[in-house]
Amino acid sequence: MMNTKIVEVENLRKLFPVQKSFLDRLLSKKIEYVHAVDDISFNIKIGEVFCLVGESGCGKSTTGYLIVRLLEPTDGKIIFRGIDITHIKGEELRKLRKEFQIIFQDPYASLNPRMKIGDIIRHPLDIHMIGTREERREKVLSMLKDVGLYPPEQFYDKYPHQLSGGQRQRVAIARVLVLQPKFLVADEPTSMLDVSVQANIVNLMMDLKRRFNLTYLYITHDFGIASKICDRIAVMYLGKIVEIGKREEVLGEPRHPYTIALLTSIPGRKIAGKKLKIRGEVPNAINIPIGCRFYARCPYKKDICQELEPKFTKLSETHYVACHNIEMIKKDWPTLF
Ligand SMILES: Nc1ncnc2c1ncn2[C@@H]1O[C@H](COP(=O)(O)OP(=O)(O)OP(=O)(O)O)[C@@H](O)[C@H]1O
Ligand code: SF4
Ligand SMILES: [Mg+2]
Repeated sequence: MMNTKIVEVENLRKLFPVQKSFLDRLLSKKIEYVHAVDDISFNIKIGEVFCLVGESGCGKSTTGYLIVRLLEPTDGKIIFRGIDITHIKGEELRKLRKEFQIIFQDPYASLNPRMKIGDIIRHPLDIHMIGTREERREKVLSMLKDVGLYPPEQFYDKYPHQLSGGQRQRVAIARVLVLQPKFLVADEPTSMLDVSVQANIVNLMMDLKRRFNLTYLYITHDFGIASKICDRIAVMYLGKIVEIGKREEVLGEPRHPYTIALLTSIPGRKIAGKKLKIRGEVPNAINIPIGCRFYARCPYKKDICQELEPKFTKLSETHYVACHNIEMIKKDWPTLF
């Protein structure tokens, strides 16, 4: 049977040791960890836009970095096109890396200010020794056109500081696409751009996806963007996935209070005429509570939530929610579509 999954993530974890001062280390031998990603599992199908949403600090970027092997996982497995890439290194990793790439949030920090645009986009071709000198130049010029930077010859010789934020992000996109990857992690590619150009970059990315047959893991804290582009969504909170499902499931019948809160925080968006307001911020990921991680902020909490971490309840073949109070939520928040 053909494997329709391009990425499979199984029980993935990433703990970062907390840096302590010398005095603190003397007083306590215990090493503490930030539970950035704490046992998450999901898969991404070929051709999908899979969105990962959640507030700042919930572990989205860490998940993305782990998948493209920029970080070493603490535990768990990452399978890419059927190959276990969790611990591959050296030449093996270098070869496969062409196929999975990442676009970073900050187009100002991610481009070398001393390199010309053409050289920046050509660099991956040089590293992987793809094509002759002339072919590489041609490839870069056609990439510049593909990402909407006209006339390409003019952009080739410019420096990053001569470009706007949106143009820089186009360069960053060209730089990863030049290797003809199959899978892209887009880590909040528009969150540092002017609102006026955000939609252009999102549209460009969707257009390129169709033209180059790409699959995306699209990371965003903006449920509004996710709701426009996703095929499936996973909602993350404090290192865990709390709800996952197809677009129409998560947007149309959200069943985790955190999902409902994020969804109804979109301006103008209500469910049955209401919004679910939550207070506070994501707590720090060092001292993780025993029960539900959302307990402190949850308007639906009950006693059991503080004692027992909720496991996934299967609502359909594709829709899963980790909450002890789904029945109550169903009553309060009727299906949207
Ligand atoms: N290199 C690191 N060392 C220590 N802690 C880290 C490191 N990277 C991330 N963290 C911590 O891990 C947690 C998850 O961070 P991450 O950057 O993955 O969140 P995020 O969802 O991408 O947030 P944002 O929306 O702000 O980008 C946070 O508590 C963060 O402080
Ligand atoms: S398990 Fe309890 S605390 Fe957690 S989200 Fe559900 S109702 Fe709220
Ligand atoms: Mg991030």
